[in-house]
Amino acid sequence: MKLIFLGAPGAGKGTQAEYVSAKLNIPTVSTGNIIREALAGGTEMGLKAKAFIEAGKLVPDEVVIGIIKDRLAKDDCAGGFILDGFPRTIPQAEALDEMGIAMDCVIDIEVPDDVVAGRMTGRRVCPKCGTSYHVETKRPKVDGVCDYCGAELVVRKDDAPETVQDRLRVYHEQTEPLKTYYENCGKLRIIDGTAPIGEITTSILQVLEAQA
Ligand code: AP5
Repeated sequence: MKLIFLGAPGAGKGTQAEYVSAKLNIPTVSTGNIIREALAGGTEMGLKAKAFIEAGKLVPDEVVIGIIKDRLAKDDCAGGFILDGFPRTIPQAEALDEMGIAMDCVIDIEVPDDVVAGRMTGRRVCPKCGTSYHVETKRPKVDGVCDYCGAELVVRKDDAPETVQDRLRVYHEQTEPLKTYYENCGKLRIIDGTAPIGEITTSILQVLEAQA
């Protein structure tokens, strides 16, 4: 299956992608994680993206579209994938269409702004594999350590409260119009993202089963 997870920053796209990709045995392609890895590795792309990501702005379309083209060409994507954080603008969605990739379903995880802002203050992430945790709602087995790769968890720079407000503004201006874009193609499914994590995963899997 080829899926897109849409939603505001902190809506739970990464968290749900982790569970759904394990269940369906398909990889998650997270542009945010790819960019953060490039940043940590000091690559040319990472340096280009640094100022944008830290200010809560979107990285330019041409950079992100290039990342996605390279990533989706890899063998592990042949049987399907989840796109987490892409597309985020209409030109990015159009670029995906131009690649000739027919998406099966677009899952929009809906959470009000005040709830996501609260979630991001408690978020901790693995700098190595990108897995996202929360100090209350999704704790790692050992405090401060990633369950999967043992790396020490960190707070994302762009989770500072003032940057979160900028990210939400950018989301409403540039990403939310994608809901109409995919609704017009008949691909949009809306999920209530305020429920507990496990219930949301169940709802997503039910939607996908109903459409298979
Ligand atoms: P990216 O990493 O994609 O960030 P984002 O979309 O802002 O999304 P988040 O990762 O903040 O949230 P999420 O929805 O994955 O939530 P999570 O599951 O962690 O992008 C970062 C930056 O990279 C962008 O700002 C931009 O600069 C750049 N970028 C990336 N893609 C780009 C693109 N296509 N074009 C241009 N620029 C791009 O959950 C949040 C917290 O809540 C966690 O702590 C989690 O444990 C907790 N939680 C999750 N679900 C629940 C629940 N149901 N109940 C309680 N707590 C929950």
